[in-house]
Amino acid sequence: MDEAMLCRRAQTILEGMTLPEKIGQVTQLMYYGTNYDETVAAIREIKPGSLILAGSALAGNEKQESVQRDRLDELQELAMAEIGVPLLLGRDVIHGHHVVFPAPLTSACAFDKELVRTCYDAVREEAGKDGINWTFTPMLDMAHDPRWGRIVEGPGEDPYLGEVMAEAMIKGFQTEDLSAPDAMAACAKHYVGYGASEGGRDYNHTEISDYNLQNNYLPAFRSAVKAGVATVMSAFNELNGIPLTAHRHLLTDVLRGDLGFDGMVVSDWEAVQQLTNFAGFARDRKEAAAQALTAGVDMDMIDNCYLENVEQLLAEGTLTMAELDTAVLRILKTKLRMGLFEHPHMPRGSYDAQAHLALAQKAAEQSVVLLKNNQSLLPLSKTGSLGLAGALLHDKTELCSSWALDTREEYLRSISEAVKLAAPQATILEAQDYLTQHVTTLRDADVLVLVFGETHWDNGESRGMAEVEIPEEQQMLAQRARRMGKPVVAVLCYARPIALGNVEHLFDAILYAGHGGSRGADAIAAVLFGDAEPGGRLAFTLPHSFGQLPLYYNAPPGARRMNGYYGEDDMRMPNYVDLTGKPSYPFGYGLSYTTFAWSAPTVAAATLPLAAIEQGEGFALSVQVTNTGNRAGTAVTQLYVRDLVGSRVRPLRCLRGFDRTLLQPGETATVTFTVAKADLGFYLEDGSFVVEPGDFTLYVGENCLTDNAIDVTLTK
Ligand code: BGC
Repeated sequence: MDEAMLCRRAQTILEGMTLPEKIGQVTQLMYYGTNYDETVAAIREIKPGSLILAGSALAGNEKQESVQRDRLDELQELAMAEIGVPLLLGRDVIHGHHVVFPAPLTSACAFDKELVRTCYDAVREEAGKDGINWTFTPMLDMAHDPRWGRIVEGPGEDPYLGEVMAEAMIKGFQTEDLSAPDAMAACAKHYVGYGASEGGRDYNHTEISDYNLQNNYLPAFRSAVKAGVATVMSAFNELNGIPLTAHRHLLTDVLRGDLGFDGMVVSDWEAVQQLTNFAGFARDRKEAAAQALTAGVDMDMIDNCYLENVEQLLAEGTLTMAELDTAVLRILKTKLRMGLFEHPHMPRGSYDAQAHLALAQKAAEQSVVLLKNNQSLLPLSKTGSLGLAGALLHDKTELCSSWALDTREEYLRSISEAVKLAAPQATILEAQDYLTQHVTTLRDADVLVLVFGETHWDNGESRGMAEVEIPEEQQMLAQRARRMGKPVVAVLCYARPIALGNVEHLFDAILYAGHGGSRGADAIAAVLFGDAEPGGRLAFTLPHSFGQLPLYYNAPPGARRMNGYYGEDDMRMPNYVDLTGKPSYPFGYGLSYTTFAWSAPTVAAATLPLAAIEQGEGFALSVQVTNTGNRAGTAVTQLYVRDLVGSRVRPLRCLRGFDRTLLQPGETATVTFTVAKADLGFYLEDGSFVVEPGDFTLYVGENCLTDNAIDVTLTK
């Protein structure tokens, strides 16, 4: 159906609706399984536009009732019979359904758009077959502070990775054709700036300049809109004095005007009502409803502020019928674009669980980052004797992280089980828990493997962590293991960046495995024994100390260039008297079981006129990458751009591209990038994009600290 016809059809449906039916459309109710009878009654009486399939504000951490397909079909039938308008059946399908894929921040480490897209195809297939037609994914909140528990749900500290992840996840859910029977609607959230919560305290105040907002927080949403995202969720936070739920300028002028979004906006959980919590912002629920609806929040998630107040607001003249109709039309158009009127039920059927598990394992392997490997300790021999200890060693579910609502536990293995399965000939000695006294049971092992990590209760919504480092009692395990005089491998199962300064020296090898999902444990075992290479690169900075936070690679340089990240500390004027600004490991970092070398980059022309860039040309850059070791391995070539002189302070490096190339020992490949307008320019405060003439340095290599570079010039 073309857009004009779709708009006419939405208009006709709207014209046939009564006022209560319109108010129903802008209302989302909760359906959590056990309230089936109430939900049936509510569909008859209220005729809601949507049901959220969740039972609490902490759905990401608490166990939720699993989805029952038959019940969803019955509720959808009922809605169709009552009003002829299908329900949006929404659930937080964040990084998996029955099979869980790596948590978003972990999967960002795979540096692989296609892989992420394929994973989300699989997620859609499973969730769709359970009758879910709308997901509250992707979460695109760029975050600089790992104390914020929700950093695990998003793409991390880099706006470009955010753009890439946004597109991959949206295409996975929505496919190329949102109206296809098996496509689900995606929801880009939380619009916008939520990741800047002050001090990493969730739901907290945010303060972001327009320049920063445009260049760091909005890019992933721009990419989401470009990828055709059907819905957007407004964020909980207040930004520069105005809560996003009532932020007309950002929700309407910027999101719809500048970014060109044409879908529907849903509030976050009870966020309309929460406008009364920001002291003095909304006097009561009625005022909150008026503020949110007129700002551009089309659907009210579960707090019933719209349901209870819209009629009165219309009668008082605080809200016009045209404003209500606008919201209803956007919801109807979304449902029409999804083809729900033609096929209100998602197709049933089975899926290939083994294929999804194999994909989950590939994704998890490719997200494991090798940080350290002294004397090539890894990969381990499968026939030696291995001592295992640590938190999460015997756990089966925690690598699924937060927001794993429908996990099939029969798919999961513990790290201990996975190691034994991968190396049946090895002698495995195990400590039963991670307390230090048990380490002595490992004294006959050749190598110790210690697993450190956080549980799903330690991350996600409302789960800030003040001290983002390995807790003290686990540090004691590391010290005790070190004193045994054996080589020690650390496996870090943190879905967020943690500071490594006080333990790093205790380990001979370190794998940052994140939260790898249903096959996270198997991926760790595969990497430990070399059945898979550690394929990931850090999608975030690992600080030395949490006292350095926020610490991120693309921070604007300071007046005396002392940020230290790039090794330029002037020790007469250090960042801190007790520490530099140098991280433990920088953004983009990750070793392999082989080694790579990059040639000096070349460009077809080092000077281009600005007009050529404006017309879509770019610097054609190439670099040769060689596998200089004696194992096959995948080189992850990263491109960073630095604008040397400009009308705004620019970061010292901005990631603008990456490439993965599998190379046999001794093999060389040429990697090419076109460095074009989007890579050379930046946004001004008003959202206009500028490319300024002048000099740029293009860095190409293994991580953000690479010195392998070439200078290019844009002439006027
Ligand atoms: C979270 C959202 C989530 C929603 C629905 C909120 O508390 O902030 O990310 O989609 O709940 O469960």
